[in-house]
Amino acid sequence: MGGVRPELGYELELRREGKAVFYSPKMPGKRDFAPTSLPVFFNPFSKPNRDVTVLFIATWFEGFKIRICDALAGVGVRSIRMLLETDVTGEVTANDISPKACELIKLNIELNKLGEFVEVTCMDANELLARCGREKPRYDYVDVDPTGSPAPFIENGVRGCRREGVIGVTATDMPALVGAKLESCLRKYDAKPLRTPFSKEIALRILAGFIARSAARLGIAAKPILSFSKDHYIRVFTKVERGRKLANEALKRVGWISYCPSCLTVYTAERFESPVIICKSCGRQIDYAGPAWIGELANRDLAEKMYQKALGSPELYRESLKLLDGLRREDYSLLGYHPVNYLARIFGRPPIKPSILAEKLIELGYRASTTHIDPSGVKTDAPLDALRSIFGKLGSEL
Ligand SMILES: C[S@@+](CC[C@H](N)C(=O)[O-])C[C@H]1O[C@@H](n2cnc3c(N)ncnc32)[C@H](O)[C@@H]1O
Ligand SMILES: [Zn+2]
Repeated sequence: MGGVRPELGYELELRREGKAVFYSPKMPGKRDFAPTSLPVFFNPFSKPNRDVTVLFIATWFEGFKIRICDALAGVGVRSIRMLLETDVTGEVTANDISPKACELIKLNIELNKLGEFVEVTCMDANELLARCGREKPRYDYVDVDPTGSPAPFIENGVRGCRREGVIGVTATDMPALVGAKLESCLRKYDAKPLRTPFSKEIALRILAGFIARSAARLGIAAKPILSFSKDHYIRVFTKVERGRKLANEALKRVGWISYCPSCLTVYTAERFESPVIICKSCGRQIDYAGPAWIGELANRDLAEKMYQKALGSPELYRESLKLLDGLRREDYSLLGYHPVNYLARIFGRPPIKPSILAEKLIELGYRASTTHIDPSGVKTDAPLDALRSIFGKLGSEL
């Protein structure tokens, strides 16, 4: 079924993912190949990104028929899966700037007999999305899945969303977002990252905050409804509502995050306030990140429904069940988390299983949960002394 297609000029490989059967460029045998070196981008390891996207739209838009823009579509597998695996997808614009990608998308759409539902366009995503609302109707869902930073596509992505629409955004430029490349984060997201034990959560918050700030300039409120971090990337799904008042409300959830590495206290401050730079518990001078989203990053009920949907078709979503299980267990009212090994080192005690530590904290009246971001992490509002006391007691029982 694969082989060189003379009309394309490179070798193809037939693949299956979810309900889609599609061609990708032939993959080199080694696991650590660069998808960007292929004639058309395809990364099989991003299946969970596509699984969660499909489950998200099937759940969030249940009962509706929606128009979707897959603005950076690659081989088109995401568009195909949204059509085949959900009842909500009515029409899709599958777009890519690369003529080679567009040729392959057309071939794959034909292979799945979806021609009547898909328009393939070969444009710069910004140009396509900027036309929405003038020459073209806006979309219910816009997907932005670039290699690297999505920052250049956010403003037009939001512009391309209808009232009550959603934009789903991937970022793979993790070194910038987790604080390993400060200047890159400042340049792309106009935000300061911070190296902490929960830097990946701060990365999600910087991206969500950037989307909210970009939307607010257009009089649009953008609030995250589902966010996750996995492997080499993060993804945020943001609900879009129009209106200056709503945009002002959303901006109240954008601010500063400070962290004290001595007593592990996390502080937030609203944007118009100054970030906390002296720890109120131990007096140490501390550093901060932001502007970043300081409100909830996801909705637990939504994550639960998505998990249940995935459980109903494990043959399609097996690789993503663990991630979805992690998402539905998380307390989104808490900001930051402590890896148990880090706590164990500080207290000089053996580590405690995160789920047991969270249970114990809840028994003691604190808020606590595990986090999908780090299997060894615990989110809590408990102070250092309470954690130390649990490590003292439970540690000796281990
Ligand atoms: C990460 S890949 C997309 C993967 C795809 N969404 C998936 O799930 O398999 C990024 C794609 O964006 C395309 N691209 C890069 N810059 C673009 C632009 N300015 N407008 C539209 N597409 C662009 C690239 O050709 C590439 O195919
Ligand atoms: Zn402190």
